[in-house]
Amino acid sequence: MKHQIQDIASLHTSSIPPEDFFLLLSFVSRKSKEYLIAHPEHRLSEIAYHTLVSLIRRRMNHEPIAFITGHKEFYGFDFSVDRTTLVPRPETESLVELVLEDLDRHIGRLPSRHSSIPRKPLALIDVGTGSGNILLSILKTLEKKSLSTKFSCFGLDISSEAIALAKKNARALHPLIRARFLQSDLLRAIPFRTFDRFASVHILANLPYLKKELYRRCPPDVKEYEPETALVSEAQGCAHMERLLGEIAVLHSIFPELPFDIWLEISPEQTTLLPKRIRRLLPASQFDFQKDLTQRYRFVHIALHA
Ligand SMILES: C[S@@+](CC[C@H](N)C(=O)[O-])C[C@H]1O[C@@H](n2cnc3c(N)ncnc32)[C@H](O)[C@@H]1O
Repeated sequence: MKHQIQDIASLHTSSIPPEDFFLLLSFVSRKSKEYLIAHPEHRLSEIAYHTLVSLIRRRMNHEPIAFITGHKEFYGFDFSVDRTTLVPRPETESLVELVLEDLDRHIGRLPSRHSSIPRKPLALIDVGTGSGNILLSILKTLEKKSLSTKFSCFGLDISSEAIALAKKNARALHPLIRARFLQSDLLRAIPFRTFDRFASVHILANLPYLKKELYRRCPPDVKEYEPETALVSEAQGCAHMERLLGEIAVLHSIFPELPFDIWLEISPEQTTLLPKRIRRLLPASQFDFQKDLTQRYRFVHIALHA
């Protein structure tokens, strides 16, 4: 028996949102959503139909679509995802934009290719890299600009499974500017002496930042499927960021001439909690908060320049 899309849709779009239904249908049938909407007479084979029904059941049990299909689009690139880390969120795409703009400014200030001053590489360090979505999106975008600037890139995560996932994504996207993905508690895997080699250091981090009360109110899609260790942080969600800023403070005391630009994704209510902590840990820094596309404060930029 063959199954027409219009009949399947009328049966199942009451159990899951139509948007999710078409994503799963598109995954099973390997046809685009646009094609499927335009061709309600399209038929699924018996096997495809039964696969679709089992995927709809998984979605009804709150499993995120990205874990069902194993993929998530982020900043126009396709990422493999799994339950070892967070599904990339659309608001994080603004972090990619902000870091790219910041890198453009720095690259403009570097000595020219013909200058006699030796050109040191820029360090780009993604802390809590997860699937590698932020760093790899930046590297893929930079490669389109055919830059002569040298980069030294690191993706760090405390979870070895997340690092394996990031490496898988790096192999698939194969950016021309290569990155090292290392299991690391914050910056620990990069030896201090390495920092002497860099012209400037650009640290980006979407570390766990949810306070426990907010996590408790998250939907089951999040609580039952994504690792709590990727989401929750002590001290009202600030503990990971605070520890990272402490490590940067030590590096700054060893290399006071080395410019640091730090970009952190935050929870909007942390705009009242972070200033005190930043001033205490990095008193020589300047910082400002930036909004995401929904006009909520979502990022802090901390500049530590000599
Ligand atoms: C909010 S997720 C972000 C994942 C990805 N960067 C993104 O934007 O979708 C936080 C990530 O930080 C990692 N993480 C948690 N504690 C860490 C630590 N102490 N050092 C390094 N990474 C950590 C988690 O394993 C998780 O992959």
